[in-house]
Amino acid sequence: MDEIRNPFAPGAGSQPPELAGRDKILEDARIALQRALRGKPTQSQILLGLRGVGKTVLLNQIEQIAEEHGHLTSMVEAPEGVPLPTLLYPRIHQIIRKLSVIEQAKATAFSAMRALRSFASIFKVETGDFALSVDPETGTADSGDIEYDLAELFVRVGVAAKAAERGWTLLIDEIQYLGEKDYAALIVAIHRMNQKGLPVLFFGAGLPQVAALSGNAKSYAERLFTYPSVGALDQKSAELAIRNPIEEEGEQIEVDALHAIVEKTRGYPYFLQEWGYQAWNTADHSPIDAADVDQSSHKALRRLDDGFFRVRFDRLTPREREYVCAMAKLGSGPYKSGEVAEMMKEPPNKLGPMRASIIKKGMIYSPSYGDIDFTVPLFGDYLMRNWIEANVQ
Ligand SMILES: Nc1ncnc2c1ncn2[C@@H]1O[C@H](COP(=O)(O)OP(=O)(O)OP(=O)(O)O)[C@@H](O)[C@H]1O
Ligand SMILES: [Mg+2]
Repeated sequence: MDEIRNPFAPGAGSQPPELAGRDKILEDARIALQRALRGKPTQSQILLGLRGVGKTVLLNQIEQIAEEHGHLTSMVEAPEGVPLPTLLYPRIHQIIRKLSVIEQAKATAFSAMRALRSFASIFKVETGDFALSVDPETGTADSGDIEYDLAELFVRVGVAAKAAERGWTLLIDEIQYLGEKDYAALIVAIHRMNQKGLPVLFFGAGLPQVAALSGNAKSYAERLFTYPSVGALDQKSAELAIRNPIEEEGEQIEVDALHAIVEKTRGYPYFLQEWGYQAWNTADHSPIDAADVDQSSHKALRRLDDGFFRVRFDRLTPREREYVCAMAKLGSGPYKSGEVAEMMKEPPNKLGPMRASIIKKGMIYSPSYGDIDFTVPLFGDYLMRNWIEANVQ
């Protein structure tokens, strides 16, 4: 069928034509955003899920809802190894500048700017194009203890936002790459906002293994956040994700074709987009039938093998590849670390550092103590198809 009209959107962070099965998450966000503006205690969300399940898409959507409800927003992706002050500085700078043009917030925004200056100098942020001409405020956000200083800075920003009758929503993607201390500081800062009734909210998204927290941060986090797990879509939502976009283009798909797509993709959002896309292009005419889906599966799989799976596999060293292949050979996960070691004929403790490095790269995670699993759905099948069976022959 006409490729130009193909509605599907396979790709990292691409807005899907039908955002299926996520109503509860979006509704909770909508409520939290409005409550925050009224100074009421709120629960933000940390979206946890595997690769390609739609976390980034949800954060984008929440950002849009936040803007519709009078929040200024800052959305950032945490890159590996960048300290939080460096990551947040330009965003906070931008928010304060926006607030500073609102008449009733001028004075409080100025004081937030001074706190930001203190914060930047104590954490040695390279300010570059965002250098500040205001004097730092000695004694504010400059103790050098991030947990304390970040909260103090957020309070200043929150007070300015409140004076402006706006909110500030901070959204951070890939939070598993934040350092443990930075993540804890963020939670403590958000707790302070909530306690003081300031209109500042945080939404995070990341792989299931977000940093283990301790002390205050842990108890705050338990009360402040909900942790919806973002996963595969259920049968009904998965069908909707495929059928609606096709029908909106004035075309049809047969029921058994629909079922075949849901079965092959197991309802994973990224895979649904890929299969929908290929099935549309493969079909000569509407309705798309089971034979079209069958034919398009090879293309969809090849595209995933060469793209989605391959880019992730390429980040591993040869030894790390052996490790993940040993996992795949054990069948479906989760896997016991000890069994992987046995498969590799190595003592388990010798493999600890390598396992930690693969976790750090975001390729595997530990769903519970002593267990590991892939962060990419169906990655084990990919390894079997492309690396293990190919080598065995
Ligand atoms: N609810 C949904 N229904 C249908 N398709 C979806 C849904 N959510 C996301 N998608 C599609 O899934 C793909 C992956 O989405 P996204 O990049 O947001 O995932 P992610 O969880 O952020 O992945 P990663 O961990 O790799 O960053 C995109 O092609 C998107 O269009
Ligand atoms: Mg993402």
